[in-house]
Amino acid sequence: MGILDQFDLTGQCAIITGAGTGLGREMALHLAEAGADIVGVGRRAEPIEAVGEEIRAKGRRYLGCTGVDVTVSSQVNEMVEQAIREMGRITVLINNAGLGGTGRGKTLPELTDEDWHSGIDSNLSSAFYCSRAVVSHMMEHQGGRIINITSGWGFRGGRNNFMYPIAKGGVIQLTKALAMTYARDGIRASCIAPGLFPKTEERGTLEQLGDKQPAGRVGFLREIGPLAVFLASPAADYLSGETVLIDGGSIAAGITPAGLVPRAEG
Ligand SMILES: NC(=O)c1ccc[n+]([C@@H]2O[C@H](COP(=O)([O-])OP(=O)(O)OC[C@H]3O[C@@H](n4cnc5c(N)ncnc54)[C@H](OP(=O)(O)O)[C@@H]3O)[C@@H](O)[C@H]2O)c1
Repeated sequence: MGILDQFDLTGQCAIITGAGTGLGREMALHLAEAGADIVGVGRRAEPIEAVGEEIRAKGRRYLGCTGVDVTVSSQVNEMVEQAIREMGRITVLINNAGLGGTGRGKTLPELTDEDWHSGIDSNLSSAFYCSRAVVSHMMEHQGGRIINITSGWGFRGGRNNFMYPIAKGGVIQLTKALAMTYARDGIRASCIAPGLFPKTEERGTLEQLGDKQPAGRVGFLREIGPLAVFLASPAADYLSGETVLIDGGSIAAGITPAGLVPRAEG
């Protein structure tokens, strides 16, 4: 087997939550490019169907699961059952869906139970529900790979920024718990911690944001793809429980990259 053959995902099938937009879309396209069939999951139909067209054009099988709210465990369970029924063996799960900014601008006493559950459920409970729904299937079929998406905020605190850093820190711990629990069942769990990957193409904004990063620029959405392919592939077979930062050196620069005090972002 050649070195690059280890990155070949032919015959794999990946469930990716939030596959229709942003980082999830890029990971879906890159995994498909590397040979994987894809199950794209989200609430809105349009982005999930649009990425599906691109994936089918690459010659891969694609199942779009729309109207699925990953904060509702019964909907997650049904989605995983449908994916197994229609696609066969699921070998990869990428828990990407997430929501920043819940409760933005509120002080701790102002935060409601709803704010708390919205932030924790969209970023952490969702990954727990999806992992729980797929793990028995993976164990029955010689294992699989679970890739969680955290954030630089999983490592640092922010002023008046509670749910997002707490949930993303929990995602790192979920990864470790999955890795430890299923290490002898062939299931590998890993985590990606993206830095700043804006969706805007407005040049002034990008330059302004990039100037605050150690690398002098923000991340391009497509740059997440090769890392996801690696973590999903046999090349990463002995990698488990680890969180990989892809942030142009932001966390390496300390908790306040470029000297900024973290505020209520996310
Ligand atoms: N972009 C960054 O700079 C950055 C940095 C660090 C971490 N991250 C993390 O990366 C992940 C992707 O973020 P992104 O920037 O690519 O944002 P995005 O484009 O808003 O992607 C989020 C996706 O998740 C889906 N989603 C959200 N809540 C959902 C729910 N309850 N049920 C089902 N699907 C849901 C959304 O689709 P629907 O609305 O149609 O459901 C959307 O496609 C998130 O976990 C985010 O926290 C992003």
